[in-house]
Amino acid sequence: MHKKGVFITFEGSEGVGKSTHAKRLAAMLGDGAVFTREPGGTPVAEKIREILISDELKVSPEIEAELFAVQRREHADELIIPALREGKTVICDRYIDSSIAYQGFARGLGLERILELNDYVLKNCMPDVTLFFDMLPTENFRRRKGSVVEHDRFEQEHLEFHMECYRGFKEAARRFPERIVPIVPDPDKEITFRRVVEALKKRGAI
Ligand SMILES: Nc1ncnc2c1ncn2[C@@H]1O[C@H](COP(=O)(O)OP(=O)(O)O)[C@@H](O)[C@H]1O
Ligand SMILES: [Mg+2]
Repeated sequence: MHKKGVFITFEGSEGVGKSTHAKRLAAMLGDGAVFTREPGGTPVAEKIREILISDELKVSPEIEAELFAVQRREHADELIIPALREGKTVICDRYIDSSIAYQGFARGLGLERILELNDYVLKNCMPDVTLFFDMLPTENFRRRKGSVVEHDRFEQEHLEFHMECYRGFKEAARRFPERIVPIVPDPDKEITFRRVVEALKKRGAI
């Protein structure tokens, strides 16, 4: 790919602080960084996101996994790879490991099937470092605060579904130990952010 920039992804259960810290990292890095998210990131991928998180448009687990893979490919081609070629640090809120967790584990398709479906990004656009916010879904910060925000199709799933996702993230971390770095989130956001920055500096990613 001849890329110059660094590709960093944030992964983990719902409400553990991924978006908060991914955006803060992008703000810290300023013009040299691009923040993006999945599903979505480009106009086409955002349209696919609407289908994926809709309550009314239900699809089978296999189609769901394919839609995630296709939006990821479009996101990689149209946004991530060009930004990396320009030398930007790309920070993405969720990526392939969320497919391993949600479609591979919670929806039961298996890790190998997810890797097969994501063959294109495995070959062409994999993160240099993935920060896995290692916190049980039962302990997530949103749950603790008892927030009443609107929940999408995935957020409404029962706790066992989210526990299965968590097992999926753990399995991804075992499968890709060079890439995936566990971060233990602290109730103090400053401490968590320091852990994020230290982990990335240690790997020469920032
Ligand atoms: N370390 C933390 N301590 C306390 N609250 C946190 C912490 N990290 C995130 N939060 C809060 O938890 C909620 C979910 O965070 P968010 O970044 O949206 O999580 P995610 O993107 O993983 O779903 C937000 O209200 C956020 O302010
Ligand atoms: Mg988020």
